[in-house]
Amino acid sequence: MRKSRILVIGGGGFIGSHLVRRHLENGNKVISIDKDNSRLKNNKNLTSLEFNFISPHDAMQTVMGVIRGYYPDFAYNCLAVANPDFYVKHPILTFETDFELNMGVIDALRIEHVPFIHFSTCEVYGKKGKNRVMNEDTSELIFGPAQSLRWIYAVSKLLLEQIILSYNRDKSMESIIVRPFNIIGPDIDWLPTEKPYLHKPRVFSMFMDALLYNKDMYLVGGGKQKRCYCYIDDFIDGIFSVYMNREVCYNEVINVGNSYNEIKIKHLADIMKALYTNKFNRSYSGKIKCCDAELFYGKEYDDSDRRMPDISKIQNKTGWTPKTNILETIKLSMEGVMK
Ligand code: UGA
Repeated sequence: MRKSRILVIGGGGFIGSHLVRRHLENGNKVISIDKDNSRLKNNKNLTSLEFNFISPHDAMQTVMGVIRGYYPDFAYNCLAVANPDFYVKHPILTFETDFELNMGVIDALRIEHVPFIHFSTCEVYGKKGKNRVMNEDTSELIFGPAQSLRWIYAVSKLLLEQIILSYNRDKSMESIIVRPFNIIGPDIDWLPTEKPYLHKPRVFSMFMDALLYNKDMYLVGGGKQKRCYCYIDDFIDGIFSVYMNREVCYNEVINVGNSYNEIKIKHLADIMKALYTNKFNRSYSGKIKCCDAELFYGKEYDDSDRRMPDISKIQNKTGWTPKTNILETIKLSMEGVMK
């Protein structure tokens, strides 16, 4: 049987690199485009191309050139910067990457008729509001005030979703929008002590850094906010199930996450500390402290108080369901950093 040719744009990132590996394990030919493919070791069946897109036109021309050289059957677009500290510090760069460069990529896929999965974000739901769970087709999207520049990421991704859905409706292309919900695992973000020149990573890496380097862990706004953490292997299984069932998923927006794994950020800190000292037998002299969101991120930060995905759509369409419980998800992710 002829193996598929898969193009992963942003294949060097956290989700992208896991996706590349899974397709390689399945024997497919993979082409990864990223400005940095260092997460990917040399592999048979892998072509890793390094480009740093500088404008939407350049992104479009580059991706079109790659498509004309390699003829992929299917593509994934994982190109994004997904760190709240970055949105607040660099709102224009966030817009340029998460909307403008992505627009160039989407145009290339459309012009070259390559069907694809586009990774959007659970941030498009914004705050919880009246939503009990977040449903792709019925939930209202609730953002904070315009002065809270944190939302520039969410609105950039949302605008892109609306453009993709419009093209799908016009039959200009075939695509599926996936909204990932707080995926963690090996190779997620960096440790700030090792890269102090970068912006702050997401909470798991902040807490991991505190544990490894005996710093304090900070609970922004007291740590009552809730997230549902999904282990990366479950997530990649979910994406694969969408890919395998793509004919019934085209033109859909699909949540992928683990609604059974809801946890308060405060409890995430407690569990990570307990696992670190008890399970991994390491000593930790830092403290868990509450801190003001404005002091931690700046006044333009805002937060999502709760984010729970409704995953009935992916379950019904593909039969996928996440398997890794919250303790195992945190433990495996910590092992990934400490290996
Ligand atoms: C981020 C991205 O913005 C989303 O696009 C992405 O989908 C999501 O992560 C994800 O991982 O899937 P968020 O969950 O708000 O969204 O990102 P974190 O920076 O990990 O923050 C989670 C919570 O922890 C927030 O309430 C934040 O205020 C808090 N936090 C963060 C702390 O209490 N302490 C810290 O040191 C860092």
